[in-house]
Amino acid sequence: MASVYSGKWVWITGASSGIGRELALQLARRGAHLVLSSRNREKLVALQQETGLTEEQCLVVPLDVSDGTAVVRVAGEVLERVPRVDYLFNNAGVSQRGLIRETKVEVDRMIMEINYFGAITLTKAVLPRMIEQGGGHVVVTSSIVGKFGFPMRSAYAASKHALHGFFETLLVEEKEHGIRVTLLVPGHIVTDVSYNAITGSGERYGKMDPGQARGMTVEKAVKKILHGVEKEKREVVVGKADAWSVYLKKYFPGLFFRLAGKVNPV
Ligand SMILES: NC(=O)c1ccc[n+]([C@@H]2O[C@H](COP(=O)([O-])OP(=O)(O)OC[C@H]3O[C@@H](n4cnc5c(N)ncnc54)[C@H](OP(=O)(O)O)[C@@H]3O)[C@@H](O)[C@H]2O)c1
Repeated sequence: MASVYSGKWVWITGASSGIGRELALQLARRGAHLVLSSRNREKLVALQQETGLTEEQCLVVPLDVSDGTAVVRVAGEVLERVPRVDYLFNNAGVSQRGLIRETKVEVDRMIMEINYFGAITLTKAVLPRMIEQGGGHVVVTSSIVGKFGFPMRSAYAASKHALHGFFETLLVEEKEHGIRVTLLVPGHIVTDVSYNAITGSGERYGKMDPGQARGMTVEKAVKKILHGVEKEKREVVVGKADAWSVYLKKYFPGLFFRLAGKVNPV
């Protein structure tokens, strides 16, 4: 079956696990060529092999997105190796489990560096090429907590809110140059995100939250995400019942805030 992704170059950050990994697998099946990034080279090499794509069709590019200097250098190297970047999925991210009063400011900064500055630095490095080639599509993984604050996720929610401010501006500024932007707004999706979340003291949380475990499967979520990106939606809300909280906050904010204080945050 023909796919809009066929023959397109797609750069995915956070490709070693969860949503990014599944994006890589489903995009490879749809004929895309890939650039896979995250910090874990071994997992990326295993994923490249799993996609069935050759090393020329699927580049493994280890990258810590919180290191701004490395992001700019690595982007320059990738742009020398690929003919175009049709899609950039800024998906790398880390969640949080800690009350505001227990969270060190260093942890707040670390979360902003990965989730916000990582995404905008890479986008700024790739954007000139996208404009030069006549357009491109920037996809950004936000969260339902990019739409409201939620207990134990203060910096995470802040970083995801910041993405909306930045990338909605990009959409408006560069539309005439063919730049399309889609913000992904997932509720709970079953991945290792809660295991990999950071606590107030900067440790790995290391647990699968019960709420997380009851989420949507990553296969189903990514199918919906790719459909929404294909339709060039500005936002794709994806998840089970928890995703409806986005609309509850929008249309019934009083009720939303009464309930938010009562919901178990894990
Ligand atoms: N799952 C959910 O319920 C959910 C809901 C809303 C939003 N999201 C968002 O979805 C995105 C993907 O999360 P996930 O659920 O797939 O979780 P995950 O399984 O923990 O995957 C996170 C990915 O981000 C990468 N990453 C983390 N820090 C990085 C860094 N400094 N530099 C480069 N890559 C880094 C990780 O790779 P390495 O460790 O190899 O670097 C991994 O590939 C995140 O932005 C997350 O906030 C997830």
